[in-house]
Amino acid sequence: MDAYIIDWLHLLVRFLHVLTAIAWIGASFYFVWLDNSLETPPQWKTDQGIKGDLWAVHGGGFYEIAKYKNAPAALPTTLHWFKWEAYSTWITGMLLLVVVFYVGAQSYLIDTNKADLSSWQAIGIGVGSLLAGFAIYEGACRTPLVEKGLLFGLVMLVLLTAMAWALSQVLGDRAAYIHVGALIGTCMAANVFTTIMPAQRAMVAAAAKGESPDPIYGYKAKLRSTHNNYATIPVLFIMLSNHFPMTYGHEYGWLILGVLAFIGAWARHFFNLRHQGIVKPMILVSALAAFALVAWVTKPADQTAMAAAAGSPVTDIQALGIVGKHCSACHSATPSDDIFKAAPGGVMFDNLDQIKAMKERILARAVHTHDMPFMNKTGMTAAERQTLERWLNQ
Ligand code: HEC
Repeated sequence: MDAYIIDWLHLLVRFLHVLTAIAWIGASFYFVWLDNSLETPPQWKTDQGIKGDLWAVHGGGFYEIAKYKNAPAALPTTLHWFKWEAYSTWITGMLLLVVVFYVGAQSYLIDTNKADLSSWQAIGIGVGSLLAGFAIYEGACRTPLVEKGLLFGLVMLVLLTAMAWALSQVLGDRAAYIHVGALIGTCMAANVFTTIMPAQRAMVAAAAKGESPDPIYGYKAKLRSTHNNYATIPVLFIMLSNHFPMTYGHEYGWLILGVLAFIGAWARHFFNLRHQGIVKPMILVSALAAFALVAWVTKPADQTAMAAAAGSPVTDIQALGIVGKHCSACHSATPSDDIFKAAPGGVMFDNLDQIKAMKERILARAVHTHDMPFMNKTGMTAAERQTLERWLNQ
């Protein structure tokens, strides 16, 4: 399909994905907050079966919210459900995966420096990893391990990190990251579909008959929704990480993913406790400190002094030669690349001034990480990167 049409499709699907994800996570955060902020109601409400109530002011109006201990005496005519936020986030997410990574497999999925796969092989690995990962999670939820919340979380984290490692051996770095994110998102949406919704349907059906629902439904739904709660921050991080090559593009990118996912879940724990009135600021402080530590530990080695001492000054002609050979196919007013028909990110390297103006970004993308040229499509060597660095720094 025409690259131009794919780009517009990409824009539309990405927009819808972000929009639906905001609605899903927004609703999920709101209900977690709501549940944890309920207060003991006055007696007349307790008499009606109300367990907790809450007052709020928003958008120019007062709201009075009540949560029933069991079911209300009579079911209301209109009962609002929250499920399409989850389903539509998943559907648009999968479409985005297809539009960007599968339709564009040659540029986004396959890294020939790692494995010389055909498009279908690479797509097979991606889809297979999602199916296998989902089966493992569902299997684990049926073992006694699921009762031990913390241990279960840690085991899942280790498995996800292992998946990031395995995928990064055969697929492009971004593709490896995005599949881990897609797997978490799939499990979260499936939790709504396979467990939380059926539990709610059973509850409503029992209430309609004036019976009290089997507590096992509520218990299972609560467990899965707790998993979803702790997964939100890690999954958001992974989705955003595609803009940050110092994470996925790092030699130990898979480990960075695991550590940052852990920090994200840890930070979420602070808010879960705080809603219940337990304030442990050290959780947030330690999460921020750990974040800074990751940044420090993974910082690019300072080779400037070494590289400068390594040889005679690099001429402008040499630098232009390297950039012309390895970057200009895409980053030019008139790109010659088969996929990228407009300078990506608006970044063009058609003359010395344009190149010098982007010094820091070139260092970040082509020297400190090896994330540019894109998938190293033009086969840039380590020596060429070093020469470019010397020139930029002299
Ligand atoms: C095959 C096409 C291709 C080649 C070749 C290529 N790039 Fe890129 N470049 C991209 C794409 C796609 C983006 C936008 C997506 C992104 O930022 O990752 C981009 C974005 C960038 C950005 C802007 C984003 C930022 O971090 O500020 C810089 C800088 C960059 N590339 C530098 C380079 C350098 C330097 C080279 C040559 C050593 C190079 N690129 C070669 C495709 C390419």
